[in-house]
Amino acid sequence: MQIAVIPGDGIGIEVIREAAKALEAASRASGFRLKLDTYDYGAERFLRTGETLPAGDMERLKGYDAILLGALGDPRVPDMKHAADILLGLRFGLDLYVNYRPIRLLDERLCPLKGRGVGDVNFVVFRENTEGLYVGVGGIFKKGTPEEIAVQEDINTRKGVERIIRHAFQYAAARQLKRVVMSDKSNVLTYGHDLWQRVFRSVAAEHPEIEARHLYVDALTMQMIKDPSQFQVIVTCNMFGDIITDLGAQLQGGLGMAASGNIHPGKVSLFEPVHGSAPKYAGQDVANPFGAILTAALMLEHLGKQEEARRIESAVVACIRTASTPRELGGAMGTRAVGEAVVREILAPSHPA
Ligand code: IPM
Ligand code: MN
Repeated sequence: MQIAVIPGDGIGIEVIREAAKALEAASRASGFRLKLDTYDYGAERFLRTGETLPAGDMERLKGYDAILLGALGDPRVPDMKHAADILLGLRFGLDLYVNYRPIRLLDERLCPLKGRGVGDVNFVVFRENTEGLYVGVGGIFKKGTPEEIAVQEDINTRKGVERIIRHAFQYAAARQLKRVVMSDKSNVLTYGHDLWQRVFRSVAAEHPEIEARHLYVDALTMQMIKDPSQFQVIVTCNMFGDIITDLGAQLQGGLGMAASGNIHPGKVSLFEPVHGSAPKYAGQDVANPFGAILTAALMLEHLGKQEEARRIESAVVACIRTASTPRELGGAMGTRAVGEAVVREILAPSHPA
């Protein structure tokens, strides 16, 4: 298995180091061969050379089984130009149209909702990942004057909308899940999200065994807090998916716990924790590495290594149970120590799954 690793900026570098150790431990424990190649994209290189995602590298990256990315963002690049170039460049350039974000509570102590346990928070969000408000179509007219006009277009194509909705239903069907929710704002976005409505109804009609429900995104955020157990699969546009998965992350115990995959089925895909580079905490050995480690597990699962993925996940669960956790989860361990505890659990599980 050949993985391109892009640690990125800030705490991304620290958490990816631990995720890489977990991957190496999993490869040793189950005997698959693993090769990790590091790519130094990020603020440091951008400030030094002006390069973000060097031309030609995209082709090289296509040769890997997957890409593992930490986080991008650095106060020395205030407009985040390098981050947009690299992350959005990879999402768009590799046409990674599925942003797969599981919202799964691993231990009830991590849930901020009263009386909710692991059975109540277990769903996945499929966020459209290649269009919508993220395409950067628009402009500013009469900039800096009192008559200034800013336009930011929301691009929804039939192809783009259909492939993500189809993916959500196929995911549900393959796992015998019975409920898919599509969330939009079609009461106000009467063109773009009218398209979502029509495509949703037609794809849903191909899956009569699955209950297809629609929720406006404002109502969805309310329901995610009120009763998260009602959800199995949620599919939504790029912008709403971005927002609701930060909310979802809190249901799992915070941004530090959330994993994600940017996927083009059958092609090279990119896996990254949902959290950012948190410059404030960079270099202090305090970041929570679980999100990155769980992301590595998600990547293995995607690459057909289910057993190895479970092994990593079980190791994280065991660490949470035994309070081998970072400060943000109430523990006393640093990033490295947590990573080492996970590695020990992978190599010699204290509670075999
Ligand atoms: C995410 C992030 C990115 C996004 C930013 C860093 C561009 O918030 O992956 O959720 O908005 O997609
Ligand atoms: Mn986000």
